[in-house]
Amino acid sequence: MTITGIDGITYGVEDMDACTRFLADWGLTEVSRAADRVGCETLDGTEVWAVDGAASDLPPAVEDGPTLRRVTWGVSDQAALGALRAALHDTTAVQDTDDGFSCEDPNGITLSFRVSRRRSVSITGAPVNTVDQTPRVDRRAPVYDRAEPVKVGHVVFFVADVAEAVAFYTGHLGFHVSDCYPGVGYFLRCREEGGHHDLFLLQTPDRKRGLNHVAFTVRDLEEVFGGGIHMNARGWRTQIGPGRHPISSAYFWYVHNPCGALAEYYTNEDYCTAAWQPKEWERGNDNFAEWAIAGGIDPETRRQVRKTD
Ligand SMILES: [Fe+2]
Repeated sequence: MTITGIDGITYGVEDMDACTRFLADWGLTEVSRAADRVGCETLDGTEVWAVDGAASDLPPAVEDGPTLRRVTWGVSDQAALGALRAALHDTTAVQDTDDGFSCEDPNGITLSFRVSRRRSVSITGAPVNTVDQTPRVDRRAPVYDRAEPVKVGHVVFFVADVAEAVAFYTGHLGFHVSDCYPGVGYFLRCREEGGHHDLFLLQTPDRKRGLNHVAFTVRDLEEVFGGGIHMNARGWRTQIGPGRHPISSAYFWYVHNPCGALAEYYTNEDYCTAAWQPKEWERGNDNFAEWAIAGGIDPETRRQVRKTD
C-alpha cells in the first residue's frame, strides 16, 4: 500500500466566525472562503476545511456538535490509487469522487483517497545540543511568537469497536501498529517507515464514537512552546500543554478547537522503520504524559495558568 499521509481534513462546524479566527491564530494560511466554508492549508499544502455543519455536501457526523467529517488520505500515484480502490471494493461501499474515491471506515468516518497534492517543502527545525552531540554551533535556538504548522501529522478518534477498526486499517489499508494499549487504544502508522502514528484509535468503556483531536506537526520544541503561548494570548483555552508523551516521545500542546474537540501542536515524535518494536502499554497517567501543564502558560507572567479543565 502506498498511502503517504493525511492530505486534508474537513470539519463540520457551528460557529464559522470563531473557527475562521481559530484557524488563522493556529498558524494556517487561508486559501478559500465562501459563505458556508473556509479553506486553509499548512506549509506543505495539507488542506484544512471548516464547513457549516448544515452544508449538503458534508459527509454525515458520528457525534453531535462540531467535529471532523472527513479525513483525506494522500496516495503516492494513480496506479496506487487504483489498487487501493480495488482492494477496498469488496470490503465497503466505495464512491468515486472528482479526484479519487471515498468510503466509510467501520466507525462511520468518511475517508477520501486521492493522489497526494502536498508539496515537498524544505523546512528546518532548530537542532538540539545534547551531552554528546552539538549540531547547533554559534547559533541561538529560536523563540517563536506563533506557530506555522507544517502538516497534519495524525488524527485521533474514539471508536465503538477498536478491534474492528484496527483490522480495517491494517488489513485493507496497509497500516502498521506502532504501539498499543491492548484491547483499548492502537497507534497506527500508514507506512512501515515514517512517523510513529498517523492515526490513533481509542475505545472507551461507553464505546462512544467521535473526534478526540487533530495533531499538527511543527518544526521543533521551541515552536510547540511559542505556538501554545500565542494561542493562550489570543484567548483560546489550553486543555493541557506543554507536556511530553512517553508513547511516541513527542512534546505536545492541546488547545480546545471550535471546529471540533482539540487541536495539538507536536514535535519530536519517534521515527519508525521495519525494525521498530511495538510495545504493549498499560493505561495510566504516567504513560499518557510524563509531565504536562494544565491550562498552558499565561502570556503575561510566563508561568502556568493554574487552572484545570
Ligand atoms: Fe496527538
